[in-house]
Amino acid sequence: MYKNIETVLSHMTKFAPFEDSAGASHFPIYNTGTFDLKKQKGEKIYDYTRSDNPTREVLENLFAHVEGGKGCVCTHTGIASVALLFETVLKANSHILVEADCYGGTFRLLKVFKEKYNITVHFANFLDFEKLEEILKNNPIDLVLCESPTNPGLKIIDLEKVAKIVHKYESLFAVDNSLATFISQKPLDLGADFSLFSTTKYVSGHGAVVAGAIVAKTQELSEQIHYYANAHGRSQNPMDVYLISLGVPTLKVRMIEHQNSSLEIAKFLEEQSYITKVTHPGLKTHPQYELAKKQMKYIPGVFCADFRSLDLAEKFIENTKIFGEKCSFGSPDSRVEIPAKISHASFSKEELEAIGIAEGTVRFSIGLENVEDLIEDIKQAVI
Ligand SMILES: Cc1ncc(COP(=O)(O)O)c(C=O)c1O
Repeated sequence: MYKNIETVLSHMTKFAPFEDSAGASHFPIYNTGTFDLKKQKGEKIYDYTRSDNPTREVLENLFAHVEGGKGCVCTHTGIASVALLFETVLKANSHILVEADCYGGTFRLLKVFKEKYNITVHFANFLDFEKLEEILKNNPIDLVLCESPTNPGLKIIDLEKVAKIVHKYESLFAVDNSLATFISQKPLDLGADFSLFSTTKYVSGHGAVVAGAIVAKTQELSEQIHYYANAHGRSQNPMDVYLISLGVPTLKVRMIEHQNSSLEIAKFLEEQSYITKVTHPGLKTHPQYELAKKQMKYIPGVFCADFRSLDLAEKFIENTKIFGEKCSFGSPDSRVEIPAKISHASFSKEELEAIGIAEGTVRFSIGLENVEDLIEDIKQAVI
C-alpha cells in the first residue's frame, strides 16, 4: 500500500524507530544530549545524540528507504555529507576521481584533503568514458564522485554506464544527488554505492536550514558511515532534522512547479538577443536532453544563461526586483548568481572555462512564484 514515493513521504512517522503512544501526526523532537540507559527496555538502546537519536532516525530510515539503500546518516550540512564520504572511504595517499564540473564547496574540500592528507585528486569529464577508463586503469582510485546534473554546468552524467566502468576497477562510486533528488533519480538503483545530498536545497525546500544526508547501498558501507559520523561528529541535531522534515512531503509538487516554471523562463531567455546560450537539461537544445529525460523523472529548476558580457549580467542582477542575488537553490524564492563570482569563486578562470562557465554566465534557481511575474521582472531588469 505504501508503494509509491509520494505516499511514503506523506507518512514519514511510519519510519520512526518506535510507535508514539499519543498517535502524533508528526514525529516528536527528542531534543536531548543523553538518554538514561536504565530506563530503556527496547531492543535498541540510545545513549548519546551524536551517535543515535530517535528523531534523526526517522529521517535516516526514510531517506535510506526512498534512495534504496541499507542505511543513512543525516549530517549537519550538505558539505558535511561529502566530508563524511571522504572520511569513510579515503586514507592518507588515496586517489580520488571527480567530475571536473563539481560544486565549488566540494572543489575546496578536495583541496583541503589534498593538502592535509596527500590525497591525489584526478579531475575528468565524465562524458568521456575512454578517459575515465584510462584513469581508472592507470591509478589506484579508491573513490569516484560526480553530481548529475552537475552544478553549475548542468551536464547529465550517464550514471549506469559510469557505475559499470567504476566497478570494473573495484572502486566505489558516489553520486551527489542534491539537484535531482530521490523523487527524480535513484543513483543506487543505477549502480552507485553512495547517494548523498544537501537537504538544504530541494529536499527541505524552504531555504531555512543547512543540512545533508548520505545513503549507503550495502550494510557494510552503512556501518562504516555511521562509525565515521560518530567519530568525526558529523550527525545532524534533532531540531534541524525536524525543520528539514517539514518540507519533505511536498517535494514532488514543488519539483513539478520548479521544472515547469524554469522551462518557461529558459525558453523565454533563449529568444532574447542579450543571451548567447541557455543551458537547461529540459530543453531540446541541451546536449544530453534524451539522457536527462530517461534518468530523471522531473528536471530541476536550475539553469544557466550566458549574457553577452559580465557587465550586462551584473546590471541585470542589480535591477531585478523579485530575484535575489543569492547562492544555493531549491528554495521557494527565485535567485540568480554569477557562479564565477559566488558559488564557484574557488575555481580559476581556466577551470571555469573547461566546464563551460563564462564570465557572463548567470545561474538561475527558479522558485515557486508566479512565472509571469518572474518574466516581467526579467524584462524590466534588462536595460
Ligand atoms: C551539488 C551540491 N552539493 C553539496 C552542497 C553543499 O551543501 P550545503 O550548502 O548544504 O553544505 C551544495 C551546496 O550548494 C551543492 O550545490
